[in-house]
Amino acid sequence: MAHRIGVVGGDGIGPEVVAEALMVLDATGVEVELTDYDLGAHRYLEDGTVLPEETLEEWRGLDAILLGAVGDPAPGQAAPPGLVERGILLKMRFEMDQYINLRPFRLTDRVDFEVIRENTEGTYAGEGGFLRKGTPHEIATQGSVNTRMGVERCIRFAFERAMATERRQLHLVHKKNVLTFAGDLWQRTFDEVAVDYPDVSTGYDHIDAACIHFVERPERYDVIVTDNLFGDILTDLGGAVAGGVGFAASANLNPDRVGPSMFEPVHGTAPDIVGEQKANPVAAIVSLGLMLEHLGETEAAEAGAAACADPERHTGTTSEIGDAIAAEVTNA
Ligand code: IPM
Ligand code: MN
Repeated sequence: MAHRIGVVGGDGIGPEVVAEALMVLDATGVEVELTDYDLGAHRYLEDGTVLPEETLEEWRGLDAILLGAVGDPAPGQAAPPGLVERGILLKMRFEMDQYINLRPFRLTDRVDFEVIRENTEGTYAGEGGFLRKGTPHEIATQGSVNTRMGVERCIRFAFERAMATERRQLHLVHKKNVLTFAGDLWQRTFDEVAVDYPDVSTGYDHIDAACIHFVERPERYDVIVTDNLFGDILTDLGGAVAGGVGFAASANLNPDRVGPSMFEPVHGTAPDIVGEQKANPVAAIVSLGLMLEHLGETEAAEAGAAACADPERHTGTTSEIGDAIAAEVTNA
């Protein structure tokens, strides 16, 4: 049966890179039924639409969503800061319980690791509030929510990923020396789950130290598991050390498949280069590969990954890169 895929090009360079990814998808020959959704900041500025309830309900029946980028569409054009990011991206993560954010980084033998970021809890859960707002005695709190269930399912997923790599190595990254409650729960859960995976070698690094390791000795890492905010920050750095954010792909996964998973390049809308054929479509195409992997289209995913890995196909205009990768996939 054809996979039902929702496509959101979104804003800025989003539609340009998604067009290339769709061309590669076509080249794989995988059977899909695509539905296009006109959403993003441009749409909000047009008619106030962010993510209608009917659309959300429709999406529950899809197999996956491929998303370009949502946010500032072009220089001088902007929705209220964070509105569409929260209203589409974060909303989907929570509504579809996409509790894993998987971000692989592969550049050389030294830079070859993936980060499993918890995607529905921590500081992103939105716990907190204001007291006496706007007065000199104002208080703002921002809590971090860490549930045993949420932490454990994320850590289990990470151990499973580590089992599938050659090195079978998993590091927990946190800040348990200071975040003594959340860090304690994460480490205890990690240690307990580790008992079920005797073949995986484990380690722990503080988040600040992990930043240094990323730059100075990235070969230290195979699979990393970390909390939502640490993962957000660490994966931007991951992009930077793995050739630039133009190569950074991500999957927002619901591994239990009770809702669709969502696949997107990490780079955002890049309004300064819209329409100039300067956007690198590789991140979007690698995200497509993650989608194919999730859909069980292993052969197509591998063909896409192999075509993306060759540096010869990393330079040129947006469509030159897309064409070269699609041609390679067709030949595979
Ligand atoms: C990301 C982004 C989002 C996040 C923003 C746009 C809400 O930075 O996917 O990493 O913070 O998770
Ligand atoms: Mn981010």
